Amino acid sequence: MTVCKSPHQLRSHRWLGADNLRAFGHRSRLQQLGYDRADWTGKPVIGILNTWSDINACHGHLRARAEDVKRGVYQAGGFPIELPAMSLAEPFVKPSTMLYRNFLAMEAEELLRSHPIDGAVLIGGCDKTTPGLVMGAISMGLPAIYVPAGPMLRGNWRGHTLGSGSDVWKFWDEKRAGRIGETAWSEIEGGIARSFGTCMVMGTAATMMAITEAVGLALPGASSIPAPDANHPRMCAEAGRRIVDMVWEDLTPEKILTPAAFDNAIRVHMALGGSTNAIIHLIAMARRAGVGLTMQRFDDISRQVPVIANITPSGKFLMEDFFYAGGLRALIGEMADLLDLSCLTVTGRSRGDNIAGAQVYLPDVIHPLTAPLYAEGATAVLTGNLAPRGCVMKPAAADKRLLAHRGKVIAFENYAHMAHEVERDDLDVTPDHVLVLKNAGPRGGPGMPEWGMLPIPKKLVQAGVRDMVRISDARMSGTSYGACILHVAPESFVGGPLALVQTGDEIEIDVAGRRIHLHVGDEELSRRRATWKAPPPHYARGYGAMYSAHIGQADEGCDFDFLEGRAPIAEPEIH
Ligand code: FES
Repeated sequence: MTVCKSPHQLRSHRWLGADNLRAFGHRSRLQQLGYDRADWTGKPVIGILNTWSDINACHGHLRARAEDVKRGVYQAGGFPIELPAMSLAEPFVKPSTMLYRNFLAMEAEELLRSHPIDGAVLIGGCDKTTPGLVMGAISMGLPAIYVPAGPMLRGNWRGHTLGSGSDVWKFWDEKRAGRIGETAWSEIEGGIARSFGTCMVMGTAATMMAITEAVGLALPGASSIPAPDANHPRMCAEAGRRIVDMVWEDLTPEKILTPAAFDNAIRVHMALGGSTNAIIHLIAMARRAGVGLTMQRFDDISRQVPVIANITPSGKFLMEDFFYAGGLRALIGEMADLLDLSCLTVTGRSRGDNIAGAQVYLPDVIHPLTAPLYAEGATAVLTGNLAPRGCVMKPAAADKRLLAHRGKVIAFENYAHMAHEVERDDLDVTPDHVLVLKNAGPRGGPGMPEWGMLPIPKKLVQAGVRDMVRISDARMSGTSYGACILHVAPESFVGGPLALVQTGDEIEIDVAGRRIHLHVGDEELSRRRATWKAPPPHYARGYGAMYSAHIGQADEGCDFDFLEGRAPIAEPEIH
């Protein structure tokens, strides 16, 4: 460890070490909590931002894990302070946790700024908690280490393995088609999530935990440890020890988050066949770090990096299998030639150092680069007159016949309209139709909900159809699959071209050529634009109104305009 600070240079010293009236108050209030000077004098104060809550099953263990982090902090000579932060339980928060990701980012930043904190441990994992915590910590700029909540164990139903989300969609369609009954459905409900921890497919949670490790902000291998595994509390304690040293070393996020580190994270994302949501979050994280990441970079890298992780929804295994196969260290080791191994990480060592000795133990789960699951294309970014600023899809999770397709549109004005229409027995629809959902973007949703895997119309499901082209300005759960084109930017609610699409139009997609085209003449589009009316705003007051006024589009990472970038904010005055 290279010590770069003396105890008097600690940020917390202003609160606790000064000889003045305010510092007296701070110290006396800590003594009120039962601490004494030996607890904090000359020690880094570590803020543990914990997104535990009673309603977040993915974080059900985080109360205990915070204690493990504290154990590590004490071992290394620090003083831990746990600060609860917004929990963002994906299944419960409506209309969408994405509405509140930036809220958590603001909370994380301000919790760190306003308290006597020298370094931060960020504990989260359920989808938006990872980017929310990390974005806030990047903006605050203190040494920070991320502790992933870890995936839950495999689901089980009558001896069959069940994957979060992915198998819900699959069996829901089986139920709609009349192939399974109430008893089976109810058993699946009880078997699909049988331990604490995040979704255990390569959904948004697993993707974000992995790429946050890949960018350098978590301990090597941390993101792959199943939540109930005894390695997990040991990893938490290690993170507690490490953050104390990071404070002395002054190892801040800006030293880790270089353009090369973000490229590494994107490459790992592609090799994992990760969630499309990660594109939005990584762009937002990069912009906070002053790195101008664009969607195009994802497409460029997608063409260079094959999918080698055989994990649902692109493959067939689950995160528990990935851990037994060697986890992220093994995957990174397998693709080491594609990465910049010189990048610095929270260990104080390089990406290359962190994978020393890493090995793949189950080659069915982590394929060799020479025999990938898909040669390229975890993510494709398409552009064209329907999406001038881009849209994304996951070709690996789509029916291959739909990757070059032209079809007639059935357009839905909003989710309720769509939900009603797809259940109609007399809907005039064929498997070649293109379903279009409007007003589901960042402002229109609001909060860009995960509505992008539009249900296949019931009459087609009953006929055995399981995939068709679906287009929206929404996101899609990382557990979802199919020929779903997402994140259309600009969104329809603000007058993007998607707003002008009508039933009966034709849309063509060409994934290999990265093109999407609405076959309607410019003159007709101008006529439609002249009569288009913006929908009324969703919010007249409160956070929603602030959100609506400042939210960026998907290609910008959906951050608030006033939170992007590196503009300095002063330390609080203490008077
Ligand atoms: Fe929390 Fe999926 S619901 S990670």
